[in-house]
Amino acid sequence: MRPPWLFSFAVPPWGLSRPAWRPPRLPVCARNGERRLLLRDAVFGVEGAAGQSVVRRNTGLAREYWRRAVRTGDVVVDATSGNGHDTLALAQLSGAPVAGTLLAMDLQPEAVLTTWRRLHDAFGDHVLWRRTGDGLRLRVRGVSRDAPNGGFECRLACGSHEAFDWLWRDPEDGDEDDLQQDRRLGHRIAMQGVSCVVYNLGYLPGSGSDRQVTTTPASTVRSLEAASALIRPDGGVLSVSCYTGHEGGAGEERAVFEWAQRLDSRQWTSLAHQWLNRHKAPSLVIIERQ
Ligand SMILES: C[S@@+](CC[C@H](N)C(=O)[O-])C[C@H]1O[C@@H](n2cnc3c(N)ncnc32)[C@H](O)[C@@H]1O
Repeated sequence: MRPPWLFSFAVPPWGLSRPAWRPPRLPVCARNGERRLLLRDAVFGVEGAAGQSVVRRNTGLAREYWRRAVRTGDVVVDATSGNGHDTLALAQLSGAPVAGTLLAMDLQPEAVLTTWRRLHDAFGDHVLWRRTGDGLRLRVRGVSRDAPNGGFECRLACGSHEAFDWLWRDPEDGDEDDLQQDRRLGHRIAMQGVSCVVYNLGYLPGSGSDRQVTTTPASTVRSLEAASALIRPDGGVLSVSCYTGHEGGAGEERAVFEWAQRLDSRQWTSLAHQWLNRHKAPSLVIIERQ
């Protein structure tokens, strides 16, 4: 007679041949696309993975808010484009490469170029890119080939976010066609507003970057003030990721909190997602226009 263990291996009982358990989906590594556990996930928890923390990391949480605010075809803004990760995520939400308008800026030309390269890798075949200026006047425009009526439009520029209407009001360089596009964009923003403005404060990450160049409390608050005047009234959002680990970061977080606390609650909802028992953890401020 066959021993019982042999029977149970040969014919699994009750449909166990279909796996009842699936491995958790691990986050994708930005560099090579592999799914694997990253160090930061070990610290802040992997979203939704079985047996791991259920607490969401700021990046995932912020993007969930953006997803709720942005509809295909909207105007979206990345006020600190840096290495372009957030810019790409926003572009995809606004329907790129065939709908919507993406505006992104950074104080440092290398950040603008890195952002442009990231978008180019993602949409290169679909979007016609044109670069003008150099150094501090660097501007890159992209317009989708596929789309009727201009379709997806992307503007990247080097400059401060303090009052970023220069992105469509400044006629410094460009031909009549550019000027007409500027006027159309200004009109669209005035009529429909901007559905999402994203800030990721601090310095440009990366080994070769200058960590002395950081966002500052005064210019960030001035920019938030300017951005709040452009936000779409029915559910547009401002999203601010604050980092307290670098010099000046805690003061900047405080300035953002104070500004957000003063907003009129009849028009705005402002909230913060903050770790209470982690030293120098980043925080996320979400401000919604009602
Ligand atoms: C933390 S990084 C942004 C990271 C980016 N969101 C990403 O996905 O890679 C902050 C960026 O803000 C930029 N910055 C600092 N002050 C600025 C200002 N006044 N206007 C626009 N960008 C600024 C820095 O150059 C830096 O690249």
